[in-house]
Amino acid sequence: MKSLKFAVLPGDGIGPEVMEVALEVLQKAIDGSGYTLETTNAAVGGAAIDEHGEALPPSTVKVCEDNEAILFGSVGGPKWESLPPAEQPERAALLPLRKHFQLFANIRPGLLYPDLVAASPLKTERIPEGIDIVCIRELTGGIYFGQPKARRELPDGDIEALDTMIYKRSEIERIAEVAAQTALKRDKRVCSVDKANVLTTSVLWREVVTAFFAKNYPEIELSHMYVDNAAMQLAREPNQFDVLFTENMFGDILSDEMGIVCGSLGMLCSASLGLEMNSLGHPFGLYEPAGGTAPDIAGLGVANPCAQILSGAMMLRFSFGLDEVASRIENAVRQTVESGIRTGDIAFGLEAVNTRQMADAILTHL
Ligand code: NAD
Ligand code: IPM
Ligand code: MN
Repeated sequence: MKSLKFAVLPGDGIGPEVMEVALEVLQKAIDGSGYTLETTNAAVGGAAIDEHGEALPPSTVKVCEDNEAILFGSVGGPKWESLPPAEQPERAALLPLRKHFQLFANIRPGLLYPDLVAASPLKTERIPEGIDIVCIRELTGGIYFGQPKARRELPDGDIEALDTMIYKRSEIERIAEVAAQTALKRDKRVCSVDKANVLTTSVLWREVVTAFFAKNYPEIELSHMYVDNAAMQLAREPNQFDVLFTENMFGDILSDEMGIVCGSLGMLCSASLGLEMNSLGHPFGLYEPAGGTAPDIAGLGVANPCAQILSGAMMLRFSFGLDEVASRIENAVRQTVESGIRTGDIAFGLEAVNTRQMADAILTHL
């Protein structure tokens, strides 16, 4: 039996609830395939603060390093919000983890099944066929990581705080390559989103992206859009996009918007990749729902498990090369949703099921 060796970091809030059923789905999907799951659990986020006194214990990093991929839940929540900002789960665990493994490419598919259009806040007649776009977000640069970051009291008693937005040409080029590769497998259209009418980093972004595509991918149709317009266009006509390509913070904001336009954040999965390969010769990656710990519903057992399950499918596809198994999981999720078995966030008019029931339905479709 060949083993699929990955780290499992459930985290906080709904993280452990959706992780538990996602692992069952992965297990069932590989049953009889000659593979076996070899998972190692590790504490991260608020759970790790409570257990080990820090959000990303060295032992957790070691577990990640010793595995072929990371399946991540989500971190953070009200319990840890009063800690100093630098010690909070998001900043002390998730961002360092992305940085440590140089996971600069975040891929978030915005897929709304035709049967689920009623769950989108958009009018059905605008998206009769559903939505099929993908957001490529730069994940280890920009204002999230730029130094200096500071907060200081001024002599006149005022206080100021600052973050720094930095992009290097090399950082823009390597993520442009991911956007291009993604577009080549789709409709060959990339819309690069920036704020080049205001930000110096965006002027460089646009310049580098334009030159990169002209030189390397003339067959791809490249367009540029300011981020404010992009936010509006995403709500107006999402299918005008094929690959929505942008920097770190714009991608964070636009991808949540894409999540709800595609029915629910609870459906939005993601893969974060770098250049490093695992021992199988596939990209090492971190796979996580795009949404957070959902404190408003955590502990109730009603969270939508699809984003976590679909993140697991992305892991099988990218980090283990198991395309066919990944597709089977994606089909099972789709069939479940189409059969009307839906958690509250996507139920719209139907009776909502809980996390367990939704997972059971997905399991029966495998
Ligand atoms: P959130 O994404 O946790 O929740 C926003 C809304 O979406 C809530 O109403 C929530 O119930 C809903 N939602 C999200 N996922 C859902 C699911 N699977 N099923 C059903 N509904 C779902 O965003 P927030 O409330 O701004 O943040 C809560 C905490 O999560 C914060 O501490 C934040 O920093 C953290 N967070 C973590 C990650 C991560 O670990 N990757 C991502 C985003 C936010
Ligand atoms: C996401 C999240 C994270 C981000 C937070 C929790 C640090 O919102 O993955 O979208 O901003 O990248
Ligand atoms: Mn986000």
